Amino acid sequence: MKLQALILFATLAAAVAQEFLQEEENRDANEDSEWELYKAKHKKRFKNKDREKMRKNTFVENNRGIKKHNQAGKSTYKLQPNQFADWSEAELEQLKGEIDTDNEIPAPVVSGDILRQAVPDAVDYRKSHCLAKVKYQGGCGSCYTFASTTPIEYQRCMKTGTLVTLSEENLIDCSQKYGNAGCNGGLALRSWNYVKDVGLNTEEAYPYQGEETMCEYSASNYGGNVTTWAYATRTNDEEAIKVVVAKYGPVAVSVDASNWDFYSSGIFSSPTCSNTTTNHAVVIVGYGKDTKTRKDFWIVRNSWGPEWGEGGYINLERGVNMCAISKRAVFPTSGF
Ligand SMILES: *[C@@H]1O[C@H](CO)[C@@H](O)[C@H](O)[C@H]1NC(C)=O
Ligand SMILES: *[C@@H]1O[C@H](CO)[C@@H](O)[C@H](O)[C@H]1NC(C)=O
Repeated sequence: MKLQALILFATLAAAVAQEFLQEEENRDANEDSEWELYKAKHKKRFKNKDREKMRKNTFVENNRGIKKHNQAGKSTYKLQPNQFADWSEAELEQLKGEIDTDNEIPAPVVSGDILRQAVPDAVDYRKSHCLAKVKYQGGCGSCYTFASTTPIEYQRCMKTGTLVTLSEENLIDCSQKYGNAGCNGGLALRSWNYVKDVGLNTEEAYPYQGEETMCEYSASNYGGNVTTWAYATRTNDEEAIKVVVAKYGPVAVSVDASNWDFYSSGIFSSPTCSNTTTNHAVVIVGYGKDTKTRKDFWIVRNSWGPEWGEGGYINLERGVNMCAISKRAVFPTSGF
């Protein structure tokens, strides 16, 4: 039995090695130089040759897919081999980290009166001094903490006149009792429940580490509060979200970001993006209409650093529940 298993294993290993060789033979010189350029551009370093080989294979495969998408030319968005193009599936998974749940946290839904107000055709808070620079979550599934801080930062700044950025690390380290799981995911509303009870430190006092460490919240480093909040819609009504964005500011949302990794520019619109299941938390910071494609879009703030997408942002087709954007749209209504 044991021997058989061993033989089977050896056969499999040989097959894998064969495939590896095959892959390398199929690779053209162009791809080798693309890898060298990529490595230099993103300052990639590797522990050893084997590790580099693995990364290179991932890169070459991803880069082929990226080229294929861009050359097809039918799409309203472009991809690029960004800093994540040599990351493994598991690592790309860690870039997300929202806990999709059917046990929704109860909260009021914004009232119909507000929704009847007239709002501008386009809003873009990226121009506001109350929107912090795009942050980078690194290899920690903490997207939900960034989605939690941005709307509070913005509203507090609108109230006080000064932007004080808030601590995501505080939420990673301290909000487990509220259902969050540090670097393994969480939800904005769970974070806000924590903030309501405890408070939130400033980013300066409690800087980002990108890994779960001991809770070090200190009342003397208080940076903001959120006491009530609401859903913009519970019926996938993107018009309601639009009014809330215009009237209140940034709105935290959940999305399916499975195919966002290599997004570069344009209006993201994909039939493979789920309109029901989500795996990532981000923030809507504006909306508009693209004159070229005639598509309505959301301006969505990500936490994958300023090098990703359009300066850290993605334009997502609006009005078709693209990537389930209307599933869990929440915003603070008091506190700050
Ligand atoms: C947040 O605001 C609420 C309501 O004003 C207050 O009860 C709570 O103590 C505040 N939290 C902090 C940490 O200041
Ligand atoms: C998802 O898309 C399908 C197919 O277009 C549609 O029938 C369904 O209503 C959509 N669901 C949501 C929640 O948007």
